Order: sequence, then structure tokens, then C-alpha cells
Amino acid sequence: MALKRNFLKPSGLGKYTLGDNDKYIIMEKKKCLEELKGKVEDCRDCPLGRSRKHPVFGEGDVESKVVFIGEAPGYYEDQIGKPFVGRAGRVLDNLLDEIGLSRNSVYIANVLKCRPPGNRDPLPEEIDACKPYLMEQLKIIQPLIICTLGRFALVSIYNKSASITALHGKLIQMEKFNIFPLYHPAAALHQPMLLDSIKEDFAKLKEQLTKPIPEIIPDLKTTKTQEEKIRQEQMKLF
Ligand code: URA
Repeated sequence: MALKRNFLKPSGLGKYTLGDNDKYIIMEKKKCLEELKGKVEDCRDCPLGRSRKHPVFGEGDVESKVVFIGEAPGYYEDQIGKPFVGRAGRVLDNLLDEIGLSRNSVYIANVLKCRPPGNRDPLPEEIDACKPYLMEQLKIIQPLIICTLGRFALVSIYNKSASITALHGKLIQMEKFNIFPLYHPAAALHQPMLLDSIKEDFAKLKEQLTKPIPEIIPDLKTTKTQEEKIRQEQMKLF
């Protein structure tokens, strides 16, 4: 279901100005997301659906211009079913705070909805099984900017061979959506020297959010033809 927000005008940092009909759109978005969340709760498309304690669907403001996509739930997220509630989450909260945003003013989700045991890296088959949920989630929310947090989110959404080192802090304008790759907040915990660079990228994101970015009508169902288009657009970037 595509929810057009053609009468929602971007205003301010993370929000849209609400018009008379917009409340209806927001209600519909929430309803669609609730339905999708139900499907995720029932999902057993990969073994993680059986080993997890809680699925972590995602949460936040459905009208945010920006959505943050992390990798996968960790121990604490699995315990309570919410994204980024552990140490990396506290780093993310601080980074958001520094640019005048909060977790309630943006939407936060992950590539995988269920925790890989021992917080190991997501497997390609787990990403493939979970990706349709993320794509549907983004299609419902229709953010102007999708901030990928870390390599797994970047390669899952953009391109399998994309390099986070080369692309972090740069807006990638696609035909149907914009991606702003960021380092994963946990990177600042493992490599404290990266923190300044991560802060700079968040400052650039703030700048992007105050600029008019061409409005796009996302249709995030990635088909083979779209994957080819993505590859061609990527070539044009360099
Ligand atoms: N918590 C999440 O929800 N996602 C991550 O990628 C890391 C921690």
C-alpha cells in the first residue's frame, strides 16, 4: 500500500507540517505498520524466529523525515523488543541529541528483526528473509532520508559491494529514495577515534535535513530491473 504524502510539506528539522487530512495519513501509516508488525511477530522464515526472545520491529515517529536502520537486535533489544536500548543505543541517543533530534522524533529499525545468537553477524540468508519486512516498513513511512548505520545496513539497502569507509557522511540520491550512510554507533565504542568522524557525519546530516531535498515517491520493492538501475545510478555518482 502506497501512502502518498503529497500534501505534507517538509518543515523544520525532523518533521512535516500537518495539514487537515494528514491525521488520516498518519492513522493509516500506523495501522499498516501494526499489521506488518503482526506478520513479523508470526514470522518463522529463518531460524532466528525460533531462537529470539522478542522480535524488534522498530519504533518512533512515523512522520519523521529520517529513518535510521541498524544491523540487528542485540541482547538488550531482544529482552525488551525495542531497537538500540543497549550501549550502542546510548551512543545513538547522544549523537541525535547533539543535532537536536531524539529517538522519539525519528524512526529507528534494523535490517534483521530478530537477534542472531551471540550477536554474530547476520547471515546472507537471514538478510534475504527479513529484507521484505524492512522494505515494506520504509514504503509505509516514506522517509526523505534513510540513514544506514554501519556496513550491513548500507550493503543491504544500497549495494552489496558498497564501502562504508568511502560513502559515510555522503548523501546518495537515488531515483526513489535518498540514503545517508553513517558508521554504526557501536563503532565509536570499539574505536573511540572514530567518534569525531561520526559526530561530523551527524552534523552533515543535520545540514541535509535543513536543505530542500527533492521529494521522492518511494517504491522500495527492489526488483532485478531496479537493482540494475541502482547500479547504474551508483556509477553516475563517481
Ligand atoms: N541495537 C540495535 O537495535 N541494532 C543494532 O544494530 C545494534 C544494537
